[in-house]
Amino acid sequence: MYQSTSYLIAVETKKTLFKGMHISSNDPTFSFRTALYDNKEILLIGGMDHKTGNPSSYKDTYGKLEEVAKKYYPDSNVLFRWNTRDCISLDKIPYIGSFSSSMPNMFVGTGFKKWGMTLSNVAANIIVDKICDNHNRYEYLFKSTRLKPIKNHDEFKNMVIQSTNSLLLDKFKKTNMSFDEIKNNSGSIIEINNEKIGIYKDKNGKIYAVKPICTHLGCLLSWNDIDKTWDCPCHGSRFNFDGTNLYDPAFKNLSFYDL
Ligand code: FES
Repeated sequence: MYQSTSYLIAVETKKTLFKGMHISSNDPTFSFRTALYDNKEILLIGGMDHKTGNPSSYKDTYGKLEEVAKKYYPDSNVLFRWNTRDCISLDKIPYIGSFSSSMPNMFVGTGFKKWGMTLSNVAANIIVDKICDNHNRYEYLFKSTRLKPIKNHDEFKNMVIQSTNSLLLDKFKKTNMSFDEIKNNSGSIIEINNEKIGIYKDKNGKIYAVKPICTHLGCLLSWNDIDKTWDCPCHGSRFNFDGTNLYDPAFKNLSFYDL
């Protein structure tokens, strides 16, 4: 599986909002729904997802959502912005059922592909039936121990290329950025004595230097300038700018350099 990051904004408007939840059919896809905040209906707009660890910018994420909000509700005002990550399997079907044949009493439900509210209910039904030894006619669709070759060749190829680059090739590529070019409140990978070092300079110019190698399986991390984190393109682990582990599958912090 890999992780995908998507973005949301909550906006207020004086216009009357629609009913229900809606998703656009074009690309990029946007989702629209309402929520109650301070006893007022507000609008939530989501979208602009990308593979976690692939660099993106404010303009291409929240900026686009704000454009959409202004297009339909010119008077709108952004109240909140946030982003979230979802697990996606290569064949796009969740894994639901037994964790493994050697652990029959342990169950898994994951890879919901951003449809967690629906698919977690599917998972709950299948797992309850497994515990109670009832037949569930959907179980075979989501079998978590499936070993069939991945049919989605393009997705599989992309995953292999990305993993090979992050694990190996990118580590030998020269970086163009120099230490002085990194602006305050921003980060990048630079090279010192042929070694790659992840630098973040905070708003006041204080320097945080980490080894930008994921503590899960060793992929090269990339700088996420929106959240000020180091993100892994392989399986989506994330680390704060100071190297603190935020998001698994990695669970160890990054090594820290005292410059
Ligand atoms: S190598 Fe697996 S999450 Fe980074």
